[in-house]
Amino acid sequence: MIFVTVPYLPKKKNFLKYLDSIYSTKQLTNSGPLVNLLTERLKTKLNVNNILPVCNATIGLTVAYKTFGITKKAITTPFSFVATSSSLAWTGIKPIYVDIDGLSWNMSTELLGYESFDDVECIVPVHVFGNPVNVDGLERLARAKKVKVIYDAAHAFGVVYKEKSLLSYGDASVVSFHATKSFHTGEGGAIVFSDDSAYEHAKSLINFGFEDGDVSAIGINAKMSEMHAALGLAVLDEYDDIESRRGELFNFYENRLRGHVTFQERLKQSSNNYTYFPILLEDEVQLKRVLHEMVKNGFLPRRYFHPSLQRISAIDSESAGLPVSDSISTRILCLPLFPDLKIATAKKIVDCLLRAL
Ligand SMILES: Cc1ncc(COP(=O)(O)O)c(C=O)c1O
Repeated sequence: MIFVTVPYLPKKKNFLKYLDSIYSTKQLTNSGPLVNLLTERLKTKLNVNNILPVCNATIGLTVAYKTFGITKKAITTPFSFVATSSSLAWTGIKPIYVDIDGLSWNMSTELLGYESFDDVECIVPVHVFGNPVNVDGLERLARAKKVKVIYDAAHAFGVVYKEKSLLSYGDASVVSFHATKSFHTGEGGAIVFSDDSAYEHAKSLINFGFEDGDVSAIGINAKMSEMHAALGLAVLDEYDDIESRRGELFNFYENRLRGHVTFQERLKQSSNNYTYFPILLEDEVQLKRVLHEMVKNGFLPRRYFHPSLQRISAIDSESAGLPVSDSISTRILCLPLFPDLKIATAKKIVDCLLRAL
């Protein structure tokens, strides 16, 4: 079976070199040298300042909400992975959904302009599949409404918008380093803060609230371990090659499928990290036909994101009708895309897909 993704394993010798260093330092966690080295290398790679590695992006999001004292309501998108909303609900914050734009599949800034901001303390947009949401329009509105912007940038590692890291926009951005992402630490993530004091506060929150030996706030344990940092450093050593192999597959799919299925419209002046190759089909009947044919042939694309998040009854939320998110979530498939996937296999995937349309 060819899965939608297979985690990238870096060269074993290089990974072992980083693991060996742990046997010298005997430090496994608590701001160890490998986490510090990874932090410095990510600063340079991404050209960002206040970057804080954490144990995963879901906890990273909750830490970001706590850092800014968000407690009541947040406006977010229904077209995302469940962690965007569950991180809010877990922290006692009610998600208010605004529908998405039918072309970019990101939160519609036009609809956001009509929203009531009563009790709303922040906006949590998602850069869906690494495609930047309209950050300029959104941040203008957030400034006018005096609310924070915390981006769920889980998919946005390495994406550049208007010559700046996408992670440097907003009050905070949270990126995932989960095993399935283009850059990963097995489990992990990072929060990037625009403000120095928010960064310092979050640094204490992820370490039980300790500050100069005293507990100055209610914290959590969200630290990244040295083993995860070792894996991340080894993956980072090969990142340019990983991205270029993903890019080759992405371009292959795009060239072969253009005119047959609908693609996501990407924001101009932004780069692509090629983590996902999502396609939009005509309707759910066609999607199920394609899925059936592909599974029969040993390919496992993924219905990502499905369902639209307001459909998850365990999460108490508010929304008006969300027709665009509902429609797109029933018609979307992400095709297999990972660095070790061969072009010859991608060709078979395309042939199978075209047969089933
Ligand atoms: C949009 C989005 N947000 C948050 C997450 C959660 O990331 P993590 O697995 O690092 O907690 C994911 C994971 O895929 C995601 O896709």
